[in-house]
Amino acid sequence: MGSKQYDETADVYDDTLNVLTYARHAEEPTFRAVMGDVRGLDVLDLGAGTGIWTRRIKRAGAGRVEGLEISASMVETARERERGERLGITYHVGDVARGHEAVEAVAFDVVTGVNVLHYSASRDELLAMCRTASRALRPGGRL
Ligand SMILES: C[S@@+](CC[C@H](N)C(=O)[O-])C[C@H]1O[C@@H](n2cnc3c(N)ncnc32)[C@H](O)[C@@H]1O
Repeated sequence: MGSKQYDETADVYDDTLNVLTYARHAEEPTFRAVMGDVRGLDVLDLGAGTGIWTRRIKRAGAGRVEGLEISASMVETARERERGERLGITYHVGDVARGHEAVEAVAFDVVTGVNVLHYSASRDELLAMCRTASRALRPGGRL
């Protein structure tokens, strides 16, 4: 569901979000406050989409930043942005509920997921997503 839906709109996703008043006045300040100070921290962004937040996290001073996203088209758009502005972010195509070896081979201080967990179709899938986050975190890390 998540994959197909976003495969078709990846190229216009950023433009759509830019015109949403809630994104600027509610989502962005709220998420920044929750995210806190990420300077020097390694961050994994789940359901990274086109990397809007992944880039914001990196620009906020985070260390190693990686994104995991189920839609190959969204990841391709994110990588295209990365080619335009080299921030050093790595994006992986994969289902958060299934986990991904690349993001579990290394540890992160913070795991984020903006507007993503609600795509879980069941409690089991939600739990699987949270387990992926948990496995990726260092002891004491936060989601
Ligand atoms: C509303 S968008 C949010 C994208 C990005 N976090 C942002 O704030 O711009 C939801 C994203 O979650 C992705 N997604 C949904 N289910 C997923 C899953 N199980 N694993 C990885 N990504 C998923 C979708 O493909 C989509 O890119």
